[in-house]
Amino acid sequence: EKGGYDYFMLKEIAEQPKAVADTLLGRIDAAGSLTLDEVRISDAELREVDKVVIVACGTAFHAGLIAKYAIEHWTRIPCEVELASEFRYRDPILGARSLVIAISQSGETMDTLMALRHARQQGSKVLAICNTNGSTIPRESDAVLYTHAGPEVAVASTKAFLTQLVACYLVALYLGQVRGTKWGDEITAVIRDLSHISGAVERVLETMEPVRALARTLAHKNTVLFLGRHVGYPVALEGALKLKELAYMHAEGFAAGELKHGPIALIEEDLPVVVVVPSPRGRSVLHDKIVSNIQEIRARGARTIVIAEEGDEAVVPYADHLIRIPVTPTLLQPLVATVPLQVFACELATARGNEVDQPRNLAKSVTVE
Ligand code: F6R
Repeated sequence: EKGGYDYFMLKEIAEQPKAVADTLLGRIDAAGSLTLDEVRISDAELREVDKVVIVACGTAFHAGLIAKYAIEHWTRIPCEVELASEFRYRDPILGARSLVIAISQSGETMDTLMALRHARQQGSKVLAICNTNGSTIPRESDAVLYTHAGPEVAVASTKAFLTQLVACYLVALYLGQVRGTKWGDEITAVIRDLSHISGAVERVLETMEPVRALARTLAHKNTVLFLGRHVGYPVALEGALKLKELAYMHAEGFAAGELKHGPIALIEEDLPVVVVVPSPRGRSVLHDKIVSNIQEIRARGARTIVIAEEGDEAVVPYADHLIRIPVTPTLLQPLVATVPLQVFACELATARGNEVDQPRNLAKSVTVE
C-alpha cells in the first residue's frame, strides 16, 4: 500500500502534484472563473463579509497564516489567523458578518471543533476546509470546501498542507471575484497560474536529490534555523515544525525582519540556516532585504541553505547550498517552497534512524485537548 515507497510520507510527498490538481478540479471553469457552488454560502452573503477569522492547529494553522496574505491582498477584507486552542479561550469579537474558516485535514481536531462551535454561537458563518469527507468539523460547519488530497497516513502532514493552501487561495480569489476588487486582472492571471501549478510542484520533486544529500550531511547537528518573510515566513515555520516532529531536532522559524531584534544572537559557526527567498520580481524590496539578511548571517558563520527562484542570481554569492524553485506568482510561492523542506525533514529523520511515518509522542489526529 506504500506503492513502492519506504514510507507513507515519501509516497504522500510524491502525490502532491496530483493532490493539488485534484483540489482544483471542477473549480475553475472554461472561461477561467472560479465556481464554488458547493460552498453553500451565497455570493450575497460573501459580499457582506466584513472580517475573516481563520482557526486551525499545527500545519493547518500555517496554511491559515499564508491565506491571510492572499485574502487581505485580493479582497481587502481584514483577516485574523489564530491557533484554535488560543481562540476558544479568549473572548473573540465576532458577528453575523464575520466569516470563520476552520482548516483541518482530519476534521476531528478537538480545539478546531470547539473554536468553530464558539464562532457559530456568536452567529458567525463557518466555512470548513477539510480533507475527510463527513468528519465532524464539516458536519458542524455552515459550508465546506473539501481538499482532495486523498487519505493522508503519515502523521506529518504534507499533501494535505499543499491542498489546504490551494483551498485557501480558491476562497481568497473567489471572495475577490464576487466582491469585484481593483485586483480583477491580477485575480484572473493568478487563477490561470494556479491551474498550472501542479506542474511546478512536479518539477520541484524532480530536483530533490541534492536536498536529500545535504540533509544526510547534517544528521549530527542539534539545531537548524529557518528564515522567511511575507508568505515565506509561514513556510519557514512549517519547515521548522516538520524538522521538530520528524527529526526531533531543535528547529525554529523566524520572520527575517526580526533577526536584528534577537534571533541573530543565535548565529554561530556552521549553524545551518534555511532561508526562503521571495521572488526578485513583484515585491523586490523584500527580496533585497532578505539578500542582506543572508549576507549578515553568513558573515557571522552561518551555513546558508537558500531556497530561491530560478534565475535569481543575487543570492548565488551568499548561498553555501542553493535549492532552486520554479518562478511562481509571489503569493503562490509556498506551494513550491514548502516541498524541499518536507523532503529535507524526511531525509534527516531517516538519517537519524527515526520512525518517519509514526514520530514519537505524536498522533495523527488530536481529538483531546
Ligand atoms: C504536523 C501535523 C499537525 C496537524 C494538526 C492539525 O505535520 O500534522 O500539526 O496539522 O494536528 O490537524 P488537522 O489538520 O487534522 O486538524
